[in-house]
Amino acid sequence: MPTLNDIRSTFLNYFAKQGHEVVASSPLVPRNDPTLMFVNSGMVQFKNLFTGLETRDYKRATTAQKCVRAGGKHNDLDNVGYTARHHTFFEMLGNFSFGDYFKEAAIPFAWELITKEFGIDKNRLLTTVYHTDDEAFEIWKKVGVPEDRIIRIATNDNFWQMGPTGPCGPCTEIFYDHGDHIWGGPPGSADEDGDRFIEIWNIVFMQNEQFEDGSMRELDMQSIDTGMGLERIGALLQGSHDNYDTDLFKTLIEASADVTNVDPYGDQNVHHRVIADHLRSTSFLIADGVMPSNDGRGYVLRRIMRRAMRHAHLLGAKDPVMHRLVPTLVQLMGAQYSELGRAQALIEETLLLEETRFKQTLDRGLKLLDDEVAGLPDGAPLPGEAAFKLYDTYGFPLDLTQDALREKGRTVDTEGFDAAMAEQKAKARAAWAGSGEAADQAVWFDVLDAAGATDFLGYETEKAEGQVLAVIRDGALVDKLEPGESGWIVSNQTPFYGEAGGQVGDSGVIRRLEDRDEVALVEDTKKFADGKVIAHKVTVERGTFAKGEAVELEVDHARRSAIRANHSATHLLHEALRETLGAHVAQRGSLNAADRLRFDFSHTKAMTPEEIETVEREVNAFIRQNSPVETRIMTPDDARKLGAQALFGEKYGDEVRVVSMGKAPTGKGHDGETWSIELCGGTHVRQTGDVGTFVILGDSASSAGVRRIEALTGDAALEYLSTQDRRLAQVASELKAQPEDVVSRVKALLDERKALQNEVAQLRRELAMAGGAGQANGAVAKDVNGIKFLAQALSGVSGKDLPALIDEHKSRLGSGAVLLIADSGGKAAVAAGVTNDLTQKISAVDLVRAAVQELGGKGGGGRPDMAQGGGRDPSNAAAAIKAAEQVLGG
Ligand code: ALA
Repeated sequence: MPTLNDIRSTFLNYFAKQGHEVVASSPLVPRNDPTLMFVNSGMVQFKNLFTGLETRDYKRATTAQKCVRAGGKHNDLDNVGYTARHHTFFEMLGNFSFGDYFKEAAIPFAWELITKEFGIDKNRLLTTVYHTDDEAFEIWKKVGVPEDRIIRIATNDNFWQMGPTGPCGPCTEIFYDHGDHIWGGPPGSADEDGDRFIEIWNIVFMQNEQFEDGSMRELDMQSIDTGMGLERIGALLQGSHDNYDTDLFKTLIEASADVTNVDPYGDQNVHHRVIADHLRSTSFLIADGVMPSNDGRGYVLRRIMRRAMRHAHLLGAKDPVMHRLVPTLVQLMGAQYSELGRAQALIEETLLLEETRFKQTLDRGLKLLDDEVAGLPDGAPLPGEAAFKLYDTYGFPLDLTQDALREKGRTVDTEGFDAAMAEQKAKARAAWAGSGEAADQAVWFDVLDAAGATDFLGYETEKAEGQVLAVIRDGALVDKLEPGESGWIVSNQTPFYGEAGGQVGDSGVIRRLEDRDEVALVEDTKKFADGKVIAHKVTVERGTFAKGEAVELEVDHARRSAIRANHSATHLLHEALRETLGAHVAQRGSLNAADRLRFDFSHTKAMTPEEIETVEREVNAFIRQNSPVETRIMTPDDARKLGAQALFGEKYGDEVRVVSMGKAPTGKGHDGETWSIELCGGTHVRQTGDVGTFVILGDSASSAGVRRIEALTGDAALEYLSTQDRRLAQVASELKAQPEDVVSRVKALLDERKALQNEVAQLRRELAMAGGAGQANGAVAKDVNGIKFLAQALSGVSGKDLPALIDEHKSRLGSGAVLLIADSGGKAAVAAGVTNDLTQKISAVDLVRAAVQELGGKGGGGRPDMAQGGGRDPSNAAAAIKAAEQVLGG
């Protein structure tokens, strides 16, 4: 009997032989669709090839595509476990033609594969065509299907659409008749919902595109999109009509039975089925980057997880069990989907964390539910208030409560639930309004109400499609932004990182999907409304950006890469500082920009050059280690137990991202193994080697007890180092020395300069004393009022030479007064001296003050034997000397 893995291979190999490119499944989170929650069929990754927006070097492709149908147009969550064929996760096998073959080849391919390769009995097959599609009808006849087994269907069952918009077209379906021992009628009959006739393959003739306003256009080319559920064809080929009877599901169901100790196929089988199905969807979603949260995709994941956990609880599991099933799933599907193995630890930890936490409230919640139900009349729905309390206090998603009540034959008053939810939102908003935050923030809560939280895709991708949900200009909601206008654009999802935790916001472009030449430039990205709304600050270059528009959002890759490198380097730096300076080092702030990083930390002294070098060396060693950067989600408590560094000024919710990197030397690091572990919501490099190079620019004081390091990484660091190198070469060439001799050469030059300066000063003084060349007049003392007075105007002498000259003159005079005025760079420096025998009678201070006044200055001071001052006008030296003589009584 072929296993599901065999069947998948047979399908892909068949179409590869027919010239189809075997293309890998795309991730479950659509990168190329603005509205889809999850990839729900094989054609999603090829959507732009059907509409002609994109071409590739192949025109035929075949895939096994991971699909999730939980939320959105195709939502199967409620039925899982209770029916034979519903899944939240399944694999869709498909073959695709992009303007290559059409109906005439697609139908014979399908017929040959199922009747020859799979060997299905022709007599058990029948087909449907869209009621007007005579061409498909004729082709079926030609391959050998009798006319009475080709059924024309007039309803939308035979017109396939991916979602409210996008490529679509009429389809033809192949059905298998499981035999009259099972109830049910052929397609189109009143009993068609029975299990006897099962659709096994849908072949869509892609020829139209549906738009939001309901209009439709003919596509330029005719294409093929087919979809065959692997689990369904698997059941058939393994002789069953129940997908859960296949090798893969039986293995998972038995694993579930094993960990819960409950008979796999007894009357508790439904719980095992739900667990097996939900294990697949949750594991694949986590592997593709979705994390449980209270909004958007993360909430769908949480709902699926908790639903499975309630069923495990019903099986009597006391401890968390879901994570114990992951190895079996990886064994079954890891060969085809390597992402599963790569994310195994993350999947297990996430499931364990969620189940541990949910178990804390599950019992009490179920008891509350029982009490509520006990008080209700037969068949009455559960009041919305009670369902809301279960949601709000006990973490029961609405559909979990509905699932629990289903077994008791009851429903929930969903209107009452919605009303209770709306009331809580209004209260939260009122509380916020009263908290005194700026009124201009109010608009963001309007955006949050209207658009919900923005889904951030930027950990996984830098480019994605989105739908514009709100446009803001001058602080108010508007319908659109025109060319030249600036404002904010909010979309349902975005790869742009909104500034937070020291990491700057992303920049890039937003293009209109309908015309990619119409662009808005994103200058910055920020988070608002408690971090729930991510908004792009834009200026429109071309085109109009209106609410409802489908857009492509692309982050500036080079800038984001540089920011990433700086952010990861900051974590390595933090750890290296703790290692080098001590455990008192704690982060006090940080900036991770594109051009540099800045890190503030508690430390009271300036770092020594040796310390800086050690830290720089250490960071670079971990960069060269090129170890993977790992991200996990856990409770803040668990993160602290691990020794994770919490970032200053961050608010942490119930769950935190924990980023770790670097393999620590034995006995070092946080847990003896990992070098750096931090709580962090930022974006990081994949491997530490991606940081490139790390250079510290310097350490300075930021505030009391806080130091600041600025540093560079990657290209910026290299650029800095080579600029330094060029400068050194220039200096060496000016010095006519080798770079390695520059320091000793400069030292020698400075010593020489100092000696020369001393020599020049000495010579100047000697020259001045001698009344030599360049001096205005000779140094001759005259008698003023019985006192020997020597006055002289000097040039080429600086103010600081004057005291030595005064002393020299005083000792030559023996007794008397001296006044020297120097023209020092266009200013006048004045000094006066009086020999000690005369200081009772006259003061050098008075002489200086009198002279300074004439020289356009003020004041002057010192002692009676020596005083100094200055003025603006050295040309008035003669008048200044006169004034000093008058002080002496001349
Ligand atoms: N896209 C088509 C489907 O999902 C084939 O059924």
